[in-house]
Amino acid sequence: MASVRVAALGDIAMGTNRAFDIGGRSILIARTTHGVFALDNQCSHALQPLEGGKMKAVHIFCPLHGVRFDLRDGSPTGNITKMCVRTWPVTLADNDILIEMEL
Ligand code: FES
Repeated sequence: MASVRVAALGDIAMGTNRAFDIGGRSILIARTTHGVFALDNQCSHALQPLEGGKMKAVHIFCPLHGVRFDLRDGSPTGNITKMCVRTWPVTLADNDILIEMEL
C-alpha cells in the first residue's frame, strides 16, 4: 500500500464527487459534510461510472439504475446488486486528499 495524493481539497466542492485516474484506475472522490471518501468509480451492477451520482449523507446513488452505495464501505442497498464497490482509506493532510492504495 502506498499513500497517493489525489487532489487538493479545494478541487472538489462540498456535496460533489469527481473521478481521478490513479495509476490507470478510476477513483471517485466524494466530498460530503460527513467527510471525504474514495471508492472505485465503477458501479458493481453494470460497471458504469458512479461519477456525478447524487449523494445524501454517507451514500451515493448510481446515476444509471439508482442503487445506493455506502461511501464508507461500498456496500449496496437493495436487490439489484449485492456486490460492494471497493473503497480506499482517505487521509487529509493540510489541503491535500491522500488515499492508501495498491499501485
Ligand atoms: S449500473 Fe449502477 S445500478 Fe445499474
